[in-house]
Amino acid sequence: MITCFGDVIQDILIRPAGALQRGSDTPGQILQRGGGSAANTACWLGKAGADVCFIGQIGKDPAGDFLQQGFVECGVEPRLSRAEEPTGVIAVLIDDEGQRTMITQRGANLTFSEQTLRRHLPQHSRWMHITGYSFFQSVPLHGAAEQFLAHAGSIGAAVSLDPSSYALLQRYGAKRFLEITSGAHLFLPNQDEAAVLTGCRHPEAAAETLLLFYDAVIVTLGPEGCFWAEGTASGRVAAAAEMVEDSTGAGDAFNAGVLSALDAGASLADAAACGQDLAARCCAVMGARPDPQRQGRGIENN
Ligand SMILES: Nc1ncnc2c1ncn2[C@@H]1O[C@H](COP(=O)(O)OP(=O)(O)OP(=O)(O)O)[C@@H](O)[C@H]1O
Ligand SMILES: [Mg+2]
Repeated sequence: MITCFGDVIQDILIRPAGALQRGSDTPGQILQRGGGSAANTACWLGKAGADVCFIGQIGKDPAGDFLQQGFVECGVEPRLSRAEEPTGVIAVLIDDEGQRTMITQRGANLTFSEQTLRRHLPQHSRWMHITGYSFFQSVPLHGAAEQFLAHAGSIGAAVSLDPSSYALLQRYGAKRFLEITSGAHLFLPNQDEAAVLTGCRHPEAAAETLLLFYDAVIVTLGPEGCFWAEGTASGRVAAAAEMVEDSTGAGDAFNAGVLSALDAGASLADAAACGQDLAARCCAVMGARPDPQRQGRGIENN
């Protein structure tokens, strides 16, 4: 079993056709999708055939129902609590170069507590995956994130960690983040996050520093693929994507490819290649989840 924990979010993807007409109307495409970094990873893991559960919190609203159903359709066991706050939502504005600008309302995710987590933690799990977002909020989410790490240690699960956001890492403090998460087995930053934590933009040098804190590291490099390092071994894997429709969630899909391969006994180098394959599949579709036809409905505007 692989256990994922984190935000569960409704993504509203907005692609204007042309420049935004400030104070007036702009035609465009608007899509509703499941989102949340660790939730996306869980869905790609489910689609890859892994035995996977997801722990998180939604509101008592139709968006929560939609997201719960999305997990089931991807083959993920949802371990979800329902809070009084609304389900989290992100408006993602996608420009004509595919760049994303996001406005986030984390809603029910922010009141997830240690008591709630305790109800959902598994007694057996080979891997437990968590993202930086769970650490970047103070009370009560930070306590739950620390408890998640402690529980992994107590049941002998390997921890996989994606630091999520270079800007939030900067605000939280690199030294503090490394201290709290030190000892995780697998660390999965992108190049910007690795640079904030180590002061080095070169993935080789950054990974060398990160290996002082984690057993294995893979730095993702966008269109350049990734660099992996473990012990004294390291290497690069090229990106597999031939066509990039929308890179939303590519890092999350990458994490799923890596974890499913490691869970099946692959080496880190082979797992990095599997990560590239799933990231390529994600880049080829709109949104951060697999199988978009079954993950949401599109609303054509004008
Ligand atoms: N423009 C691109 N062209 C080809 N592949 C890409 C592109 N962007 C991302 N990828 C693929 O996705 C993987 C992860 O991308 P990236 O390093 O951008 O992660 P990230 O910044 O964590 O992504 P996310 O924004 O989804 O969290 C890359 O290793 C690569 O396989
Ligand atoms: Mg990422």
